Amino acid sequence: MTNTPSPDNDDAAGLPAAGSSDVPVAVVTGASRGIGYAMAQALGAQGTHVVAVARTVGGLEELDDAIKAKGGSATLVPLDLTDGDGIDRLGLALYQRFGRVDVLIGGAGVLGPVTPLSHAKPKAFTDAMDINVTANFRLLRSMDPLLRQSAAGRAVFLTSGLAQMDKPFFGIYAASKAALEGMVRTYAAETRNTAIRCNLFNPGPVRTALRARAVPGENPQEVPEPSSVVEPILKLCAPEWTETGMLYDLPDDRLRPAAMRS
Ligand SMILES: NC(=O)c1ccc[n+]([C@@H]2O[C@H](COP(=O)([O-])OP(=O)(O)OC[C@H]3O[C@@H](n4cnc5c(N)ncnc54)[C@H](OP(=O)(O)O)[C@@H]3O)[C@@H](O)[C@H]2O)c1
Repeated sequence: MTNTPSPDNDDAAGLPAAGSSDVPVAVVTGASRGIGYAMAQALGAQGTHVVAVARTVGGLEELDDAIKAKGGSATLVPLDLTDGDGIDRLGLALYQRFGRVDVLIGGAGVLGPVTPLSHAKPKAFTDAMDINVTANFRLLRSMDPLLRQSAAGRAVFLTSGLAQMDKPFFGIYAASKAALEGMVRTYAAETRNTAIRCNLFNPGPVRTALRARAVPGENPQEVPEPSSVVEPILKLCAPEWTETGMLYDLPDDRLRPAAMRS
């Protein structure tokens, strides 16, 4: 069932009423495929109600089937994350239905053009910033009051090692992830005295559509599949997780302050 929560749709079936359930609620962007899909599936399997956000309805429906097959539940939200007002409407609908959000996974992302910066079209730059930065800003802004209502609000945003590298042709992606990192660590500092813990996660190479575009010559079978990065992300989502403003680098298996990468 595709079920877009919005103020115009607040009798939508399948959503428990606010405060009626102790089941944790997770919002996962990028849930139609790749790492976001794997995370949504894993959260659903551990009994969390998953609010799955992406544009591709087919991918969301496949996820819904996979979650239901394991006894879990999901709300599918077909939404283009460039629609900031849509993100605000989602926040309002979630407040009306659940009263809180326990986990936010910022998984949606785009690579942008792989090209020398001097050749990149201005629109390609803004398109990448719209998803990798602005959409995550709108998400943080809309979900912050909901995360504050949770006893242990957890937010994890997917970043890339390229944010801190000078790899030719990946400048737009690198700039967008560096901006994301600055925003996330600032939010973590601003919420340090609350129950919210907000962190970044660099998965390293993962076998997804994004990776195939970034490194087209690579044999995908040699790249870890999305399910392999789920466990460490789940740790950052757990109520017992205490660190905030950190970056977990999976390739180095290292947790470090997001502001310093030495
Ligand atoms: N794969 C890697 O090797 C790797 C490495 C480092 C970091 N990362 C990061 O990990 C995250 C997930 O990447 P992935 O590799 O899983 O990529 P992917 O398979 O290409 O998935 C990207 C997801 O983002 C969603 N998305 C893109 N544009 C959107 C829009 N306008 N509105 C709503 N959703 C949108 C897509 O959904 P729809 O197209 O259905 O909307 C899709 O679910 C990204 O932030 C990426 O930068 C990946």
